[in-house]
Amino acid sequence: MAPLMLMIAGPPGSGKGTLCDNIVRDYGLVHISGGDLLREQIKAGTALGNEAKGYMARGALVPDDLVIRMILDRLRQPDVTKRGALLDGFPRTGVQAEALKKSGIKFNAMIVLEVSDAALMERSAGRRLDPTTGAIYHLKFKPPPKEILSRLVIRPDDEPAKQRARIKIYNESKDALLKAYGAIAISVNAEQPIAAVYAEYQQKVKGLSKSKL
Ligand code: AP5
Repeated sequence: MAPLMLMIAGPPGSGKGTLCDNIVRDYGLVHISGGDLLREQIKAGTALGNEAKGYMARGALVPDDLVIRMILDRLRQPDVTKRGALLDGFPRTGVQAEALKKSGIKFNAMIVLEVSDAALMERSAGRRLDPTTGAIYHLKFKPPPKEILSRLVIRPDDEPAKQRARIKIYNESKDALLKAYGAIAISVNAEQPIAAVYAEYQQKVKGLSKSKL
């Protein structure tokens, strides 16, 4: 059977990465996060990373051409063909959605996480990143072990004004995503606790059509 190909869309802090961690643990799909790939490029000091850095630091989108090339290259790697993929945070614009369609890479579903702006602000305020393992915690909703507390860092784009800017960008681009992939969109209430979000996802994906768009 052909492996599952899923896109995960949702506003910043809606829990895309958290949901993807659960799916990868249980189903072994390849997790491809645009944000994580860009942060790796920045850390490695590549030309792409240097170009993306300023946009990300102020909560703006990185130009389409840079991101499209990076994601399409990753989607064409053999592990994706073999195990399927979870595409997290791509596409984010109409141009990206059209490029993905044109690539001929087909998807079973676009999971759309729905969360109120107030909850998004609370989630970004309490988010902490473990730079050693890459794990994401939340001081209230997913508390980190005490012994690693001192090494955790705050993502620069979690600063409230930047988070507000990122939410606005998502709201402005959501229609374009639904225009391109609305036929395979599955909405999940991500305002619930982490385990309940995962349970709703599992229940909705169970009946997923095998056809791809
Ligand atoms: P990216 O890293 O993708 O950021 P994002 O989409 O803004 O999403 P986040 O990582 O902020 O949140 P998330 O939805 O994964 O939530 P998480 O699971 O961490 O992108 C960063 C930047 O890169 C962009 O701003 C842009 O500059 C650039 N970029 C990336 N893709 C691009 C593209 N396609 N085009 C152009 N530029 C691009 O959860 C958040 C917090 O809440 C955590 O602390 C978590 O523990 C907690 N939490 C999660 N779920 C729940 C829950 N159900 N209840 C309570 N707490 C929860």
